[in-house]
Amino acid sequence: MTNEPRETDLATELERFVKEQASRFGDVISYVPAKRVTTEKNIASMSIASIPSVPSVVLVTLEEKLSLHQNEPWHNAKSLKELEALINNCQKCALGATRIKFVFGVGDPHAKVMVIGEAPGADEDASGEPFVGRAGQLLNKMLAAVEFKREEVFIANILKSRPPNNRDPKPEEVAACEPYLWKQISLIQPKLILCLGRIAGTNLLKLNESLGKMRNQDYNFCGIPVVVTYHPAALMRNPDWKHGAWEDLKRLRRMYEELPA
Ligand code: URA
Repeated sequence: MTNEPRETDLATELERFVKEQASRFGDVISYVPAKRVTTEKNIASMSIASIPSVPSVVLVTLEEKLSLHQNEPWHNAKSLKELEALINNCQKCALGATRIKFVFGVGDPHAKVMVIGEAPGADEDASGEPFVGRAGQLLNKMLAAVEFKREEVFIANILKSRPPNNRDPKPEEVAACEPYLWKQISLIQPKLILCLGRIAGTNLLKLNESLGKMRNQDYNFCGIPVVVTYHPAALMRNPDWKHGAWEDLKRLRRMYEELPA
């Protein structure tokens, strides 16, 4: 017997949690932020400090990072489809030999929000789609709680192949795979990135921080604001963390509402 909650319990629990928070905050069932009316007058009166997550300095651009790979065939891909066709047989790291399917990513190619996880698990390896297992079902609930449909975001991982037994990605695997993620970001041009868990956050942002430190911080990846929250698998193991996740997701939604039209 395991004490881990079952998938259906978790889904119901998240729904109940959202409703509880909603009634506590006098809100409706899911998070519906107030519409912000941006006029020329209130833009003029905004100070830079009042605009959340606008980076004042972008040290390295995506183009600069990608230029290190300019001799690779995928570097000039003009669409996600073309990119996928050029990289889906990748054998740059040892995971190429053990994976069943290459998990490229899924969603709207013009998504304003990109969601980045760690690496495919067994269900994703079998299906070729990220976040389709139990963690994926919870991710769908998390997104829905702040009014995002799975299809309107783009979901990808730091690694595109499954590490055996779901172990943490090795640095050489990240180094081999992350340029593909950078290229996806440069094609999609999301306005916001949501990192799920410490491994996604530390690898994307090249930080050696705990998840606790990364949550609630204003980061950017090459100028794109990044929110770091709990990985849904961690929330399944630690339901008490859902309150924090809810706060992070509301912050993401607020930032989304504040994007220029
Ligand atoms: N966990 C992840 O980080 N990514 C997936 O695609 C599935 C589970």
